[in-house]
Amino acid sequence: MNLSASTCARPCAALRKPAQTFVCKSAPIVRRSTLRVQAATWTKAATKKELEAADGGRMVVELNGTKVLLATVDDEVYAVSNKCSHLGLPLVGKTGLLQAKISDKCVVCPAHGTSFDLATGDVKGEWCPKLPNLPLVGKGPKEAPLPTFESRVGENGEIEVLM
Ligand code: FES
Repeated sequence: MNLSASTCARPCAALRKPAQTFVCKSAPIVRRSTLRVQAATWTKAATKKELEAADGGRMVVELNGTKVLLATVDDEVYAVSNKCSHLGLPLVGKTGLLQAKISDKCVVCPAHGTSFDLATGDVKGEWCPKLPNLPLVGKGPKEAPLPTFESRVGENGEIEVLM
């Protein structure tokens, strides 16, 4: 915390040098933050029929402003963020290049080949196998899991996601 001589409530030795900017170690650290609490709610995403009919058993839906990738494997429905945790690129995008594959209950990022567990979001195998280690930066941001969402299928076949 930078203080000037006129704002510090507890004068200390640093005040004898008025032209200097100093950090007063005796002053309390003041942090202001806003905590927004929002209860998670089940949000209708699609129907199981729509998901099964979608290309590769996967589809992207936008829920509460977040793009969510729905995938079905072995009759289970998974919901994960459609934004890769490496560089934020879409796992399934509008172009043919950005079309993630689903295999072994994992979604594989089309950009650099990182494989994420659909249930936990954990990285399976090597982080960014298609990306060479670059000087100074390596493979970019540190390994991070893919955000996942709880999902359920109602008796009427409606898929809901908890967000
Ligand atoms: S953007 Fe997905 S692994 Fe790099």
